[in-house]
Amino acid sequence: MKKVFLLVVALVMVFAVSAASAKDVVIAFSQIGQESDWRTANTDDLRSAIENHPGWKLVYDDGQQKQENQIKALRNFITQDVDYILFTGVVSTGWDEVLKEVNEAEIPLLLIDRLPDCADKIDYVAAFGGDFVEEGRRQIAWAGEYLKGIGKGDVDMNIVIMEGTTGASAQTGRTEGNLKALAEYPHFKLVGQQSGNFTRAEGQAVMESWLKSIDKIDVLIAQNDDMALGAIDAIKAAGKVPGKDIIIVGCDSVKAAFDAIVAGEMNCTVECTPLYGAFVVPTIEALERGERFDKTVVHPEEGVFDMDGGIDLGSVKSVKAADVIASRRY
Ligand code: AHR
Repeated sequence: MKKVFLLVVALVMVFAVSAASAKDVVIAFSQIGQESDWRTANTDDLRSAIENHPGWKLVYDDGQQKQENQIKALRNFITQDVDYILFTGVVSTGWDEVLKEVNEAEIPLLLIDRLPDCADKIDYVAAFGGDFVEEGRRQIAWAGEYLKGIGKGDVDMNIVIMEGTTGASAQTGRTEGNLKALAEYPHFKLVGQQSGNFTRAEGQAVMESWLKSIDKIDVLIAQNDDMALGAIDAIKAAGKVPGKDIIIVGCDSVKAAFDAIVAGEMNCTVECTPLYGAFVVPTIEALERGERFDKTVVHPEEGVFDMDGGIDLGSVKSVKAADVIASRRY
């Protein structure tokens, strides 16, 4: 009799647990990889926002920088019949087919960070990402306006652009912004343009080879902070002083870049926020309540941080990094 009673209790518990988990909102996230401090902050932020939300469950997949891994993950999410898919693509092309499959499975798709170039042709419920073209413009404008401010606006300057992962919208957009803005500063002469793949190691290697092959480099524009930090190591190893012999402008505004600016080894970082949890959570909550959104792309507000602050870039004025370093979240 006791055995039967225990069996009944156990069965009731199993049913209770599966009923509870059946109600969980399952959010699957196809992440690009772990190439940079930015990416780590982005993963951590979304992971904690979703996992700490009552009744929500995260299914996470790290694509390890490979498009085929991300395509496979998206198809797995469809098979698992998850409730929402969060997606950022390592490159911008080649997603049409798999994202149409997501649409056909009627799984609401939230695009974050790097948006696919087929975004106009597919359905998505919300999109949040950096304005990469504007970030690229700000990088060049900062260098140009800074040099004007120290009385070197008329001096010819050799500039190199270290690009991110080739074909990523963060690379194509920032390059577009970099090159358009260069036209505004005729004293900048572009003497090097190469990918450092958004990683510290490749940033260091590219800078090492530039330092050997280019006679004089005055300004480095690195399309993310990790590459700028790798380049700083290469510049020091070559016996030069980063931030002084070579002006260094990064992008992302990660903690390590703030530290480098405060230490005088880097000059500026243009912000690209990885903190999308604050956008994704209220959006999914609203979708769960039955609200719907227009198909628009939301760009978060972003700043520019440097050694002294006060450089006017039109859309934004730079802020002194040392004044805000304590409040930075990534
Ligand atoms: O897509 C955002 C970019 O990807 C960040 O600038 C870079 O650090 C990351 O790897």
